Amino acid sequence: KNIVILISGKGSNLKVILEAQREQGWDARVTRVFCNRVDAPGLAIAESFGVPVTLLNHQDFATRDAFDQSLLSEIQSEQPDLVVLAGFMRILSREFVDYFAGRLINIHPSLLPSFPGLNTHQAALKAGVKWHGATVHFVTSELDVGPIIAQGVVPVHNYDNPHLLSERVQAIEHIIYPKAIEWFLKDQIFLQDGIVSVIPPQS
Ligand code: GRF
Repeated sequence: KNIVILISGKGSNLKVILEAQREQGWDARVTRVFCNRVDAPGLAIAESFGVPVTLLNHQDFATRDAFDQSLLSEIQSEQPDLVVLAGFMRILSREFVDYFAGRLINIHPSLLPSFPGLNTHQAALKAGVKWHGATVHFVTSELDVGPIIAQGVVPVHNYDNPHLLSERVQAIEHIIYPKAIEWFLKDQIFLQDGIVSVIPPQS
């Protein structure tokens, strides 16, 4: 199976996914990483794993549509079974999302449906929640709302600040994202009426 990964920044999720692919001998390959920022530290991670990168700087495109269409056709040529958003900071068009429906996943730094959008750690602290975390979900055209595949939970402590909390959340992201991808690759994920069931492998 072919996987493509889209990033914009640090690439720590990209790194753990590439490590899992290497260590667990997935029956799949990350064929290409797409990035929309020339200065993304994640580019060096892709390179260090020998994964080819396509840089598509959204600022080089006159409109959002033009960027999206170019991204769509570049990704189509990889014929991916799975498109993984790993810190990709662009909202994708409905056309893009519909085209890859059921094989486009994202990780969001909160326990959805709480705290969609940006600045989730500040929002969690402000709300005084005692548990926070991360969610892997299918992407639909509504932002941060798609069917939930996996969640990881972390405690919120009295002394927390957004930075400390984000580090704790990232650590749990690094566990649940490779796991969710593994389930997908092993056909363990079933989506019906907007609800995901994960079925254990038959022994
Ligand atoms: C993660 O916190 C993820 O939840 C959010 O973007 C961040 C990406 O981090 N969507 P990294 O680039 O994988 O380190």
